[in-house]
Amino acid sequence: MGKLKIGVLGSGAGSNMQSIVDAIDRGELDAEIKLVLADVPGAKILERARNHALPHAYLDCAPYRTKLEGPAEDRCIEMLKAAGVDTVVLAGFMRIVKPKLLAAFPDRVLNIHPALLPAFPGVHSWTQALDYGCKVAGVTVHFVDAGTDSGPIIVQKCVPVLEDDTPETLHARIQVEEHKAFPEALRILSSGNYRIEGRRVRIGQVS
Ligand code: GAR
Repeated sequence: MGKLKIGVLGSGAGSNMQSIVDAIDRGELDAEIKLVLADVPGAKILERARNHALPHAYLDCAPYRTKLEGPAEDRCIEMLKAAGVDTVVLAGFMRIVKPKLLAAFPDRVLNIHPALLPAFPGVHSWTQALDYGCKVAGVTVHFVDAGTDSGPIIVQKCVPVLEDDTPETLHARIQVEEHKAFPEALRILSSGNYRIEGRRVRIGQVS
């Protein structure tokens, strides 16, 4: 497959985008970040993009609060295409993406979710895991499909839930693994050495 041309969509701190930037800088990932878009003005992810001289912009997603659809979706696709993006990374993007974006980048939209899917889709998954009484939690990187946190899984990593965990300490432990999992999933994509077979991503299975 070769060098990935990545477009990042985010809403918050951008620590996952940072882990991708760092993996590229260390020569561990054959990729280039072509554009960073955030749906929250002043989000830290935009500041990080600026610090690394990465093209970036605020994407106003009004009138919707929880999804990327309509004029904003069209604008987003246009900007990603114009930047030469071939792989879209949802790095803490707190909106549902719709079929139009998925159709513009077929099997090339990845999401990171702070839980061992299919457990605990949605928001504040680490709190859900803690409240459920789970003894392990973790992170999932998956291809995005039309459902919510439901696409084929590329990488998962576990962390223990400790007796004295709070939502914050558990999320912090999950984030350490997130920062390994996203670059790892992107390395698999860049290798081209995988095949999506129904729900399964078969890695090292290309004939
Ligand atoms: C991460 O923990 C990511 O897994 C989560 O938001 C955080 C973003 O952190 N994403 C979701 O909950 C998506 N449903 P970051 O902005 O520092 O990368």
